[in-house]
Amino acid sequence: MSLLILTYNPYKKAPIVSIKGQPVLLFNNKQSTLLEALEFKKLEVFSECRNGFCGACKTKINSGEVTYVTEPLVELADNECLPCCCVPETNIDLDMSHTPSPTLNLFDAIDKVKEPV
Ligand code: FES
Repeated sequence: MSLLILTYNPYKKAPIVSIKGQPVLLFNNKQSTLLEALEFKKLEVFSECRNGFCGACKTKINSGEVTYVTEPLVELADNECLPCCCVPETNIDLDMSHTPSPTLNLFDAIDKVKEPV
């Protein structure tokens, strides 16, 4: 006999996702990540790898908490998240005033690999 532990709570409220205090969506788990939910609402979010290793989508969290569906490989401050690999755990307010990460741009990295030595 196996033991099944259910962690899904059908009575949990869908977290409200806001940007700079303006509510933009209810996260109802129809998309697998916060990035997909923002894009579904036609919000433009800069992203590259979409898998937590480039840092392109990194944004500041003004309030709230996220849970990662994929462990991020980018160093994050306590008040930052990667929308491409997380979901909101509580109501969340994001800053989203993003400038692309100077640490790694995939296209620059590919060009460097192609450069002759
Ligand atoms: S798009 Fe690369 S970490 Fe989010």
